[in-house]
Amino acid sequence: MTDHVITPDPAEQQKIDTTVPHSARIWNYWLGGKDNYAVDQAAGDAYTEVFPGIVTIARSSRAFLRRNIAYLVAEAGIRQFLDVGTGLPTAQNTHEVAQGLAPEARIVYVDNDPMVLAHARTLLYSSKEGATAYIDANVTDPGRILEVAAKTLDFGRPTALILSNILGHVADHDQARSIVATLMEALPSGSYLSINDGSRGIDPVFEQAQDAYNNSGAVPYNLRSIDEITMFFEGLELVEPGVVSVTEWRPEAGEGGSGTQEVVAEHGGLARKP
Ligand SMILES: C[S@@+](CC[C@H](N)C(=O)[O-])C[C@H]1O[C@@H](n2cnc3c(N)ncnc32)[C@H](O)[C@@H]1O
Repeated sequence: MTDHVITPDPAEQQKIDTTVPHSARIWNYWLGGKDNYAVDQAAGDAYTEVFPGIVTIARSSRAFLRRNIAYLVAEAGIRQFLDVGTGLPTAQNTHEVAQGLAPEARIVYVDNDPMVLAHARTLLYSSKEGATAYIDANVTDPGRILEVAAKTLDFGRPTALILSNILGHVADHDQARSIVATLMEALPSGSYLSINDGSRGIDPVFEQAQDAYNNSGAVPYNLRSIDEITMFFEGLELVEPGVVSVTEWRPEAGEGGSGTQEVVAEHGGLARKP
C-alpha cells in the first residue's frame, strides 16, 4: 500500500533550479545516476579533479546504508524507517532493501529538494503488505516531520531513524545535535539511529575539495570530526563496531567492503535506544 501518492506538480518542476549545483544531484552523478544537470556534472567533475576519492566515499556510503538496513530488519527486527535527506532514487533505496527482507516494512522518506520531490513516485512503489510515504520537509523542522510521519509510522513501535549524509547541511553542530535528539525522543525504547557523514581529520585533500565546493555557490556541506559524529549517538547503545569508517562497518565479502578495504573519510554508526 502507498499512503501518500505524490503527483509530480508542474509548479514543482519549475522550482528546480538548474543554474546552481545541488547536493542531491551531484551525489546522484557520483553514484552513476542520470538525474543531474550540466551544472551538477561540472561541479562534480571540479570536485573529483581535486579529490577523486569522493566517488568511493559516495558508493561506500550507500553500501553502508544497505548493510545497516539489512541488519535492522534481519537482526534487530525493525519494521519502521524514517529516512531523512533521502536523496534521488538510486539502486537499493531504503524501502527496497527493507521490504525485500520484510514486505510489511513501513518507510517514510523526507527531503526538501524539489527534484527529489519530483522523483518521489519511484520511492513510493511499496510492497502491498507495507507502506511508503514521502514528506517534503526541512530537517530543521523535526516537529513537522514527526507530525506528518505519524500518519504512516506508529511511534509506539520501534523505528529506525536514518540520517545518511544530511547532517552536514546543518552547519551548527549544536543545532544538528538538537535535531537528532528531538527526533530520537519521539521514538520508543528499542528504536535505532543510523548516521553516516563526511569526516574531517582523515584526508586533507578531501577537506580542501570540500572547502572549494562550499565556496562555489553550492549549498555548503560541513564535514565533522569523528568525535563530533560520535556525539550524535550520546545516550544510545552503539552496535559493534561503533563509529568507524563506513567501509569497516560489518563489511561483507565481495561488495567492496571486505576487511582489507581502505579507511575512507566517511564515518558512521548504528545505535539502539535503551
Ligand atoms: C548528499 S545527499 C544524501 C542522499 C542519501 N541520503 C544518501 O546518503 O545517499 C543529501 C540529501 O539531503 C537533502 N537535504 C539537504 N538539505 C536538506 C534540508 N535542510 N532538509 C531536508 N533535506 C535536505 C538533499 O536534497 C539531498 O537529497
